Formats: sequence, C-alpha cells, structure tokens
Amino acid sequence: MKLHIFLLQAGIAHAALRFGCSTVSIQRLDPLVEPGNIPSAHVHQIVGGNAFNATMKGDIGEQGTCTTCVYTEDFSNYWTAAMYFRHENGSYKRVPQYPNAQLGYEGSDDSAIKGGMTIYYTNKDFNSNGDQYITAFPPGFRMTVGSPTVDNVNGSKPGLRYTCLQTILTRGYETPDFPKEPCPAGIMAIHHFPACWDGKNVDSPDHQSHMFSTVKGGFREAGPCPASHPVRMPQVAYETMWNTTAFKDMWPKDGSQPFVWSYSDSKGYGTHADYLFGWKGDSLQRALNDTCMFHGCGSPGMQGILKTQTVADMNACAVENTVEEDTEGWLEQLPGQGMPMRISA
Ligand SMILES: *[C@@H]1O[C@H](CO)[C@@H](O)[C@H](O)[C@H]1NC(C)=O
Ligand SMILES: *[C@@H]1O[C@H](CO)[C@@H](O)[C@H](O)[C@H]1NC(C)=O
Ligand SMILES: *[C@@H]1O[C@H](CO)[C@@H](O)[C@H](O)[C@H]1NC(C)=O
Ligand SMILES: *[C@@H]1O[C@H](CO)[C@@H](O)[C@H](O)[C@H]1NC(C)=O
Ligand SMILES: *[C@@H]1O[C@H](CO)[C@@H](O)[C@H](O)[C@H]1NC(C)=O
Repeated sequence: MKLHIFLLQAGIAHAALRFGCSTVSIQRLDPLVEPGNIPSAHVHQIVGGNAFNATMKGDIGEQGTCTTCVYTEDFSNYWTAAMYFRHENGSYKRVPQYPNAQLGYEGSDDSAIKGGMTIYYTNKDFNSNGDQYITAFPPGFRMTVGSPTVDNVNGSKPGLRYTCLQTILTRGYETPDFPKEPCPAGIMAIHHFPACWDGKNVDSPDHQSHMFSTVKGGFREAGPCPASHPVRMPQVAYETMWNTTAFKDMWPKDGSQPFVWSYSDSKGYGTHADYLFGWKGDSLQRALNDTCMFHGCGSPGMQGILKTQTVADMNACAVENTVEEDTEGWLEQLPGQGMPMRISA
C-alpha cells in the first residue's frame, strides 16, 4: 500500500479498465489468422466494433460506426472460439454466454448485456504499473494468445484458464483444462494476453512473436519486460461466462465432460484468443494516463475519462453474417469440422 501511495505522488498513472462488451457476431470469420477466408476453420464469438470482417486492415478506430463495448471510442475486436455441448447422441449445440455480474450495470439501463465478454486493460496488476509508463497499442496492432494445436498440459500457458463456477461470482479456482464435473453456474474461460512489445511490429507471422508474456496467472503482478520486448503495453484479458444451465440434465452417462471448443477440442488445452486493436485516436492512451479504476473510468450512468453508451445501444450494434450456415440449434457436426472429430484446427 505504501508503494501505491508513492506512485500516486510521483504522478505515475495506473488506470485499470474493466468493462462489458455484448456479442457483435458469431460466425466463421478470422481476419487475424485466416484473413480473406470465408468461412474460416471454426466458429468464433466476437465482441467490439462493427468494422469486423474477413479482411479488416489499417486504423480500425476510424472504420467502425458502432461498438458493442461500453466505451464508445473502442472499435477493437476481441474474440475466442465458440463453446459447444456435445450430446451423447452425437449432436452439438452452442453454449450461450452471459454477462459478468461484477459489471453491475443494472439500474443504469433496463436491458442486460447480451452475451459477450468482460474485457480488462490493466498494468502490472490492478493497482500499479511499477515504474513503467504504459504505452497504448498503435493503429493496426493485432495479436493472438494460445494455440488450437496444444493438446496437453505441458503446452498450456499461464493465464489461459477455466473456472468452474459454483456461483456467478466464483473466482480464483482455475484449471488449464475444461472442468471435469458439472459446474452449477457455468464455465468461465479466461485469456490473459502478453503485454511486452518489441516496439516495432504491429503483427508478426505467428501473430505472437512481436509480443512477450510476463503473465504469471490470475491477475498477479507481472514480471519485468525483457530487452527484446522492452515496451510495456496494457495487460489485456478476457473473461467469457458460458451458461451451461440448459445442459445440466444431459451430462453423459459415462461421466465424460461434454463441452468442446468449436475446433473440436474437448480437453481445453488449445484455448486461444485474438485481439485486434481499434481504439479511436488517442482515447486508450488518455485512459491509461489516468488513475481511474473499473467503473471509475466510466460506465453506463457514471461519468469518467472515457465516453460511455447505454446497454441498449451496446446490444443494438451488430455485424451481418457473411457466412451462410447454422451455428445455432442442434447440429450434426461442428461447423467446418467434418467427421470424425479432429483435435486440431
Ligand atoms: C472489409 O471492410 C473493408 C473496409 O470497409 C472493405 O474495404 C473490405 O472490402 C471488407 N472486406 C470484406 C471481405 O467484406
Ligand atoms: C440429440 O438430443 C437432442 C436433445 O434431446 C435432440 O434435440 C437431437 O435431435 C438429438 N440428436 C440426434 C441425432 O438424435
Ligand atoms: C509433460 O511433461 C512431463 C515432464 O516433463 C512428462 O513426464 C509428461 O509425459 C508430459 N506429458 C505429455 C502429455 O506430454
Ligand atoms: C442461463 O440459462 C438459463 C436457461 O438455460 C436461463 O434460465 C438463465 O437465465 C441463464 N442465466 C443467465 C445468468 O443468463
Ligand atoms: C500520456 O502521458 C504522456 C507522458 O506524460 C504524454 O506524453 C502523452 O501526451 C499523454 N497522452 C495522452 C493522450 O494524454
């Protein structure tokens, strides 16, 4: 706590953003890993700006006209694979998402956030950035974390985890693979991105090597950035709440865990996520330079350094599907995955 006060006095900022974004699209597109492929290999659930399409490039902050995020200057896109339930009879159904109760936007608007994710931009931890200035991502910046080809615990990375939700507020109990037992309030998927940048490249051939991860798991304080990747960027993290309630009476009789990512991963070690920066102008840097935290940075009904919109306006923003196929209802196979099941994408 003493260190925290010292940093404040020294004028070093330590903003921590946590905000909700409703679903903007669910379809097989991946402008980052498979640009131009319509459809991409597997189904994604996407939040953020409506400039999302198969080939998006350049300064996304100048391209969107609406966003499903609380902050109206954030046209970034954030996405992960979609989660499906595999019935004993071989059929699949997409698991719906629900909003994080900790966002607490109720009262500010009469409609709840539709699906989506909780997005974080923090520093070394919630309360400090150590002695380093936090540099916002430049226009065109993109990255991924994790890999759909990882199929065992040795390949899993800190910060890519699952929480078996006993209640909507369960936190801290994390596993690198899908929970093996039914989870009363659903499954939370957690993705922490790397936060050290090489200072030069907005992307790299594997979409990862321009960044270096100092993530230790959870929201624990990160280690220092190495000389190869010296620029401290915000620590981006996603939390996705998957509502498994509809499947609670369909757990397989053989006891096997029935949830599967859209790229046919039933273990869960291949969990991965994509980030495409799209904050307008210097809005993200403006927020990072501040000392606000969570709702204090602005939320529906509460003024802050960032401009906000109502939940109804978030939910109203959407992207048209360019891939004509069913991703909903009971499906005979996972879209794009064929049969029999494959482990990798
Ligand atoms: C994606 O959007 C950009 C900018 O509006 C446009 O130039 C491009 O043609 C779009 N690509 C697809 C595949 O629709
Ligand atoms: C599997 O079970 C679900 C839920 O009862 C049902 O809707 C679906 O049609 C079944 N699929 C097959 C192939 O029987
Ligand atoms: C993981 O690593 C441990 C220790 O090196 C090894 O014993 C084990 O076989 C590895 N597991 C897999 C699935 O590769
Ligand atoms: C989860 O899904 C069930 C229906 O399957 C629904 O009744 C419930 O309201 C959902 N929970 C949340 C928090 O959205
Ligand atoms: C953020 O702070 C840095 C260092 O004090 C300053 O140079 C920059 O102009 C600030 N940017 C914004 C958008 O406030």
